[in-house]
Amino acid sequence: MRLSNSVVAITGGASGLGEAVARRSIDQGAAGVAILDVNDDAASSLASELGDNALPLHCDVRNGNDVTDAMTAITERFGRLNLAVACAGIGWAERTLAKDSTPADLDAYRRVIEINLIGTYDFARQAASVMSRNEADESGERGAIVMTASLAAFDGQIGQSAYSASKGGIVGMTLPMARDLAPVGVRVMTIAPGLMDTPIYDPVGGAELKERLVGLTVFPKRLGAADEYAHLVQSIAENSYLNGETIRHDAATRLPPR
Ligand SMILES: NC(=O)c1ccc[n+]([C@@H]2O[C@H](COP(=O)([O-])OP(=O)(O)OC[C@H]3O[C@@H](n4cnc5c(N)ncnc54)[C@H](O)[C@@H]3O)[C@@H](O)[C@H]2O)c1
Repeated sequence: MRLSNSVVAITGGASGLGEAVARRSIDQGAAGVAILDVNDDAASSLASELGDNALPLHCDVRNGNDVTDAMTAITERFGRLNLAVACAGIGWAERTLAKDSTPADLDAYRRVIEINLIGTYDFARQAASVMSRNEADESGERGAIVMTASLAAFDGQIGQSAYSASKGGIVGMTLPMARDLAPVGVRVMTIAPGLMDTPIYDPVGGAELKERLVGLTVFPKRLGAADEYAHLVQSIAENSYLNGETIRHDAATRLPPR
């Protein structure tokens, strides 16, 4: 699949990694780019910058109706969906037991799972349904889904039980979903990004934290650029033999306990 002339839908498309996918898709000549996000202002201003082929859509991935409405809007506007990229996600850190032995907040744990894991699954399953109606290309392919995990799926740090569980769940469902969707010709891949330079770190330390995180990278000795993630999404879209696997994209970073 080429990005040129494809229709791409991106959750969390208004910021960071998702925004980079939106920008790269437009640069590559995508026929449509749907930016699904809870941040309506950011989605609208990005879409107006990207031009007529970009469509901002309000979507909270926790709400199944929002996802369904977005799929309807995409098919009404562009007639099809070829590539679905799940980037919507939140970070969260809380030790299982506080210093005074108070157990962690279970509602916060549920929220992280609902957005990062269940939201990703809902978007993927509804996107696959829309893709199943595409005409297959010469290799039988009807579409591709790229999900976003994290290094924390493998090397979860102190306080990352919820976040690591949500991302480990994405890694775990990659192969079974690829097997489920093989009969309709839809591939499923996951990227596990390392430490990427995006606004996700702004609420928890911003530039100072990012500077410390550079110390964890091996080579190249820097944070990843959001467009490097978008480039990998493009490579996955273009390489039809990639399916059912998680790719670490992390400059050889291995996260220590803290
Ligand atoms: N930046 C990194 O270092 C890094 C590393 C590993 C994994 N990730 C993962 O990559 C994904 C993108 O992260 P980012 O760094 O671009 O963060 P970001 O904060 O820049 O962007 C996340 C976007 O998701 C949106 N969002 C949040 N909750 C949502 C919801 N319920 N419904 C729809 N949209 C929602 C936000 O409004 C925002 O636009 C996340 O899943 C994150 O966990 C990021």
